[in-house]
Amino acid sequence: MSTTLPAPPVSPTGELRATGTLDIKDSRTSKAYSIQILEGGVEGDTASRAMDLRQIKTAPEEFGLMTYDPAFMNTASCKSAITFIDGDKGILRYRGYPIEQLAEKSTFLEVAWLLRNGELPAQSEYDSWVHDITYHTYVHENIKTFLQGFRYDAHPMSMLCSTVAALSSFYPEAKNIHDPVERNISIIRLLAKLPTLAAFCYRHIKGLPFIYPDNDLSYVENFLSMVARMSEPKYEANPVFVKALEILFILHADHEQNCSTSAVRSVGSSHVDPYSAVAAGVAALYGPLHGGANEQVLRMLRRIETKDNIPDFIKGVKDGNERLMGFGHRVYKNYDPRAAVMRKSCHEVLDALNKRELPPLQLHGELERIALEDEYFVERKLYPNVDFYSGLILEAIGFPTTMFTVLFAVARTVGWVAQWIEMIEDPSQRIGRPRQLYMGPAQRAFVPIDQRK
Ligand code: CMC
Repeated sequence: MSTTLPAPPVSPTGELRATGTLDIKDSRTSKAYSIQILEGGVEGDTASRAMDLRQIKTAPEEFGLMTYDPAFMNTASCKSAITFIDGDKGILRYRGYPIEQLAEKSTFLEVAWLLRNGELPAQSEYDSWVHDITYHTYVHENIKTFLQGFRYDAHPMSMLCSTVAALSSFYPEAKNIHDPVERNISIIRLLAKLPTLAAFCYRHIKGLPFIYPDNDLSYVENFLSMVARMSEPKYEANPVFVKALEILFILHADHEQNCSTSAVRSVGSSHVDPYSAVAAGVAALYGPLHGGANEQVLRMLRRIETKDNIPDFIKGVKDGNERLMGFGHRVYKNYDPRAAVMRKSCHEVLDALNKRELPPLQLHGELERIALEDEYFVERKLYPNVDFYSGLILEAIGFPTTMFTVLFAVARTVGWVAQWIEMIEDPSQRIGRPRQLYMGPAQRAFVPIDQRK
């Protein structure tokens, strides 16, 4: 098994500079504190170190002040040089390159190199990267036995999560996370094997024989071949599907510190092997508020069924009984730049397949129109997100809804591993350990069971 090592990954660069002070007066003690305001990165994000608050206390034996920030609404947990988002302006860039340009001009594996290494690859780097990933796509035969243990109706995300975690047992040397060679081969294996595992999950639920990887095909073509090939000697993918999936994979490749990436960083901060850390990412992505939303969009459309039912459905959303899936985002409060690219790609696929007039698609268009005009959504800055369109593309290609998030996971694996390696190489990182505000009872004496009320 030969592996050409790419250049070492780019570590987070640029120190935080002190650009001012935040002067705080504690009304309990009348003491004044001066806390540094730090500025970092080209976009000039500002922050203060949360640990500086610990000096603020009323008595020396006290713990000191903490910040209370459920769901990390305003807490930076790391410095990162990978992905930049400006939610208000609708900007998303990987390593400085706008997502729109990458989606139009790049390939998924080129973007994967960029995310992992920090620069676009030279031709020779790209060729050996593609070669390495292509030649690590096979999985151990025991994985097949393992998959056979799942029931016919198992959700493929459960299967994917388990099989990714199981890879850790096939590559015990991956535990050597401080060895750059081991780290690199783990990353190549993860990128190479995720499509194989995803396709095997699909074939299992369909009761179809597993199709082995075909090294003559591109990353996306090979994935489609493992999913769809039947008795034909050589699988030829529809170029419309290949282009749509390349774009979908690029748009989903990374999204800075979201729920699943934070899960990968948090689990990885214990220095577990990357397969286990990425399995945590798959688990987090499975949730309907995160990667599971694309599946929920289609389920929602099926539930609404006809245009006549839309007003009732929208009323239910406004009354807080349900959510309009595929709308809203924690960071994008203007528009999701991925959604604009995905919408265009979605229309191209539907036109090429002559599927624009199908009932669920009309329903989709009508929901989009109403939500963009309705005061409830406008006021709350709820715009269509990437998942509002990705599900439709995947449905048109022929994937069952349960596979939608699996495809998201295949693409996001590169973001997870890029973020994981950045964390491992960042000397300021320690094991993740949030604080809590304890709200339970104060100390009390144990009561024997016969004396309890
Ligand atoms: N439908 C109806 N109301 C909504 C929706 C929605 N999709 N999203 C947010 N709201 C309301 C929410 O109820 C709240 O209203 P109020 O101020 O009256 O309490 C207000 O808008 C603010 O929402 P929030 O819950 O504070 O927003 P958040 O940042 O916590 O949640 C979100 C972001 C993506 C979880 C949420 O918008 C949502 O549940 N959307 C539907 C699921 C979805 O499409 N997820 C995919 C996200 S994109 C893929 C990815 O990156 O994971």
